[in-house]
Amino acid sequence: MSVAKPLPHDAAKLHVTGAARYVDDIPTPANALHLAFGLSEIAHGEITGLDLEAVRTAPGVACVLTADDLPHHNDVSPSPAPEPMLATGRVHYVGQPIFVVAAESHLAARKAVRLARITYAEKPALLSIEDAIAANAIFEDAPRHYTKGDAEAALATAPKLIEGSIDIGGQEHFYLEGQAALALPQEGGDMVVHSSTQHPTEIQHKVAETLGVPMHAVRVEIRRMGGGFGGKESQGNALACSCAVVAALTGRPAKMRYDRDDDMVITGKRHDFRIDYQVGIDDAGRILGLAFEQYCRCGWSMDLSLPVADRAMLHADNAYHLEHVSIRSHRLRTNTQSNTAFRGFGGPQGMVGIERVLDHIAFAVGRDPLDVRRLNYYAEGGCLPPAAAGSPPEDISGLKQAGAVQTTPYHMPVEDFVLHGLTDQLAQQAEYGVRRAQIRAWNETSPLIKRGLALTPVKFGISFTLTHLNQAGALVHVYQDGSIHMNHGGTEMGQGLFQKVAQVAAARFGVDVGAVKITATDTGKVPNTSATAASSGSDLNGMAVQAACDTIRDRIAECIAPDLQARPEDIVFEGGMLRAGGAEISFPEAVQKAYMSRVSLSATGFYKTPKIVWDRIKGEGRPFYYFAYGSALTEVAVDTLTGEYRILRTDILHDAGASLNPALDVGQIEGGYVQGAGWLTMEELVWDKAGRLRTHAPSTYKIPAVGDTPPVFNVALWEGSNHEETVYRSKAVGEPPLMLGISALMALSDAVAACGDGALYPALDAPATPERVLWAIERVRGAA
Ligand code: MTE
Ligand code: MOS
Repeated sequence: MSVAKPLPHDAAKLHVTGAARYVDDIPTPANALHLAFGLSEIAHGEITGLDLEAVRTAPGVACVLTADDLPHHNDVSPSPAPEPMLATGRVHYVGQPIFVVAAESHLAARKAVRLARITYAEKPALLSIEDAIAANAIFEDAPRHYTKGDAEAALATAPKLIEGSIDIGGQEHFYLEGQAALALPQEGGDMVVHSSTQHPTEIQHKVAETLGVPMHAVRVEIRRMGGGFGGKESQGNALACSCAVVAALTGRPAKMRYDRDDDMVITGKRHDFRIDYQVGIDDAGRILGLAFEQYCRCGWSMDLSLPVADRAMLHADNAYHLEHVSIRSHRLRTNTQSNTAFRGFGGPQGMVGIERVLDHIAFAVGRDPLDVRRLNYYAEGGCLPPAAAGSPPEDISGLKQAGAVQTTPYHMPVEDFVLHGLTDQLAQQAEYGVRRAQIRAWNETSPLIKRGLALTPVKFGISFTLTHLNQAGALVHVYQDGSIHMNHGGTEMGQGLFQKVAQVAAARFGVDVGAVKITATDTGKVPNTSATAASSGSDLNGMAVQAACDTIRDRIAECIAPDLQARPEDIVFEGGMLRAGGAEISFPEAVQKAYMSRVSLSATGFYKTPKIVWDRIKGEGRPFYYFAYGSALTEVAVDTLTGEYRILRTDILHDAGASLNPALDVGQIEGGYVQGAGWLTMEELVWDKAGRLRTHAPSTYKIPAVGDTPPVFNVALWEGSNHEETVYRSKAVGEPPLMLGISALMALSDAVAACGDGALYPALDAPATPERVLWAIERVRGAA
């Protein structure tokens, strides 16, 4: 089958030549207005005076809007809890939009917003996790609590008890293209919006509400984003709605793009966490009981924080079978940016928690961390008898009782566990044992430079945990000349979704991928779509496109069958031909024939993920269709005088199932690893005591550069296929590799541990900046 080819990204040439068109590159009509937000300068308080006179009379300003000027809704929230687009009396963080200016140029709008005179009655602000805990400021009425077995009893009776806590910092998305939107008013009050968004349907929905029109009056289009990483699931709503409302009020096109500083100050980031743990173990390091308290800083509004925090709970086990476990999650409300989706959607934070526990256990029992990890892995294949595989949870309750099936802390059987074999292969290929011995020898004789090594696994659940989101639609046309127009509800943010799905379409018709035109995501073509998120883009849209193509293919086969003297189902589409027996006809000829026979050559396709059921309040069910797996081995060298370090080498083996495109998947794995390692090592967000984000530009916020990628970087795909019936048995690959970066943090912990005498655990927080590494070294040496 022609689908699994390592073809380049469809827009690779456009990307590298600068010809790829992003929202800000769309030729803007000459009479367009340009928008900028006026922002809160304080973290919490009432607005007592809002003098915008100087703003209104500034050069080039066409109009200025506050919450009171909005004709209909003032809500850009992606969740049931409202989130005002423009502040209504009270402000909740430094950077909250209070008013919007529309001017003749981007610069004029930005200059004008500075002329506002705003006075506030300041209130105490909750900035940190500790502040919010002390004030009991939480979303939802109580912490969520998922349990399995009896953790309390297991902790009380375990031979050894270990306790600890880790701080895990947030992360700025740093998409290369900032947030942007362009609204074009149409006749009769209709609106066309170009938005850099992962979620066109939500933009359509929010714009319609803002304008007080039905959704059919709004059409949203997006050809591509210059990166989203979760930061464009909900954060584009404010720009699109502002543009739409200005366009509706003035009748002029309206465009808004955040400058980098504004983007970093206004928009939410990855949630920072504190995770406290208590783990009971036996002398070998086997986990007998485990309790997590996850404290999650959500920021000022709900946004997507509840499902993000849920996913952190759902990844608190990672690859480890926990019989007695308690996971409590506190969703903290603070006067900071409203944190949002970011690659992994909470999963990475949950996973860092348990990987930290495994690292701590290995240190405490004095064993190789990889041995301790493997000791606690789920059983290969999940221990499930083949006959029961795939049956719903309730059918195997007998087996569960008999201990034959291993379940997650949320009571889902693990049926597809491959990490024993995968870890073996990686450890062997990357010579884990040999290098472990070499590093031990090196560290014994090297006083200043210490090296560290860590191999960490990833098990990541695939599906939206909000079950109804697991649906997708597609629209495919075949034109008279045999060329194909392909459209689906997924969005392209650089991950290669469009290319992969085009390969699926080409494979269904047996034609070259060049015959398939990739088209912009458009709410007028495919309605009611979910965000391109949860890594499910190719799983969902690939299947929907496949269904649409197959409908048309079957119609063509039906029409051509008499000519080929074959039954329709015996006709094979391959190599640009339709073949049956010895007879054949070219695809364009067959299409022409079908057209002349008045056969419809256009079809929609639809797909919904099977088998998933989930009760997020109880914490029970099957939230995920399957798991994606991977392992990474990272080696680091640390300068113990300064705390500075380098990643020397990284080896990865990752499970993308039967890959739809191995080249793009390897790209996702490389990028995911570097982004994950960046999060946990060098990317540091700093707020001052007034709640101002001090790291609001690349001058102060460091993301990994090309020079930070490991000089030796071996990435391979695990040979296997999805045991569930996904599109061509592939697996989702967008988010899981980010968590391979956890091995970098654990390798640093290993190097720091080598600085001490084994008495004190490094307890390294993330991001493990050189400063934190140095503190940890001083700690294990007993100097601090
Ligand atoms: N890769 C690139 N180059 N740019 C991105 O913005 N986003 C990630 C991941 N990989 C992203 C990326 C995130 S957060 C998700 S959820 C998935 O891609 C979404 O795309 P998919 O479902 O098609 O994998
Ligand atoms: Mo990805 S965080 O699900 O957009």
